[in-house]
Amino acid sequence: MNRHTKADILRAGIAAPSADNSQPWQFAWSGDELDLRIDASRSGGVSDTRYVLSDLAAGACLENMIIHARSLGYAADLQTFPRDEDALWVARIRWRRDPEWNSSEPLAGAIERRHTDRSFPWRGPIAAQTQARLDAQARLIPGQQLYWPQTSPERKASLRIIRQAETLRFRSPALHAELFSSIRFAAGWQNGCEEGLAPATLAVEPPMRPVFQALRRPALMRMLNRIGAASGLGWRSAWLPIRLSPGLCLLVIPSTARSDVLAGGRALQRVWLQATLDGLSVQPYAAAGVLSLGFVPVEPAFQPPLSRLGSALSELCAPGCGLVFLRLGYARSAPSSRSGRRALASFGAFP
Ligand SMILES: Cc1cc2nc3c(=O)[nH]c(=O)nc-3n(C[C@H](O)[C@H](O)[C@H](O)COP(=O)(O)O)c2cc1C
Repeated sequence: MNRHTKADILRAGIAAPSADNSQPWQFAWSGDELDLRIDASRSGGVSDTRYVLSDLAAGACLENMIIHARSLGYAADLQTFPRDEDALWVARIRWRRDPEWNSSEPLAGAIERRHTDRSFPWRGPIAAQTQARLDAQARLIPGQQLYWPQTSPERKASLRIIRQAETLRFRSPALHAELFSSIRFAAGWQNGCEEGLAPATLAVEPPMRPVFQALRRPALMRMLNRIGAASGLGWRSAWLPIRLSPGLCLLVIPSTARSDVLAGGRALQRVWLQATLDGLSVQPYAAAGVLSLGFVPVEPAFQPPLSRLGSALSELCAPGCGLVFLRLGYARSAPSSRSGRRALASFGAFP
């Protein structure tokens, strides 16, 4: 594999989504073998204990690389979590020319186009065949599936769970600090940035921008929470956009074993790429699933609502674990701003 192909594969990898655009990936080549590791300096935050978010991002990155390499005629021999004692080492991939090379890899064409869209309202409906294509992509990764709340009680329960989780992100001081630390207010409201969340990607209405920015101050957030600000923010960031979108589904993984979370990231990426090919906009909501797992060390006062959240979510999708909700629909136009990426060389040993 030449240097150019190796760089191309990494470029496909870093086009993957990651929670808060943290890009927690590190690469190291040894001949045609590539190690994918979690970057210790960009992982392990309050919501990322046990690396659930990082493993999802690693799975998405891995899937992008596998899909892109396949479009170039390479197959991947994959070893995941090669060493128990090294928690950050996610995968070793050996690339080899695929004798059964089939250059048609439609998802590869969506890798650079895929993005998060936080706008609303979105149009629908989402046709049954489109939904079936997304289901099929998730199921291509063994054990993974999508759950679609169909009935009105199921949709209401899903909405309540997502809204409560998003509300907790503004109520818990630990989660609030984490959320606002990922937003790069210094970039202003018009520009992108190469890491973290650019305010321009958050779809905050212009009159609300100064208020939202001020909320990063813990004392102000605490004060406003006495009059229900967190609940209002949960309504605005989750309930309203979801109510005004035709599609909602939940990625369900078989267990919280790291290999299943990694596989979940691979399935998430396949679904998102297929949605992109189908012209759908996507916004993930990960807080409900991740907080429900019970690993996130929030303040004791927020433990009871968190465990209620876990019970409500598992009622929806037992025996699996619901991990990431996806809001779906047809946007009128592409978002004016997208999250950037760091320079490739900053992800470790360059080929
Ligand atoms: C595991 C995971 C969790 C995410 N959670 C959320 C979320 O709760 N809300 C949201 O708006 N975006 C969420 N995102 C989207 C990321 O913020 C987004 O992928 C990142 O900013 C990069 O932007 P891009 O997807 O446009 O490339 C999540 C992405 C991943 C992979």
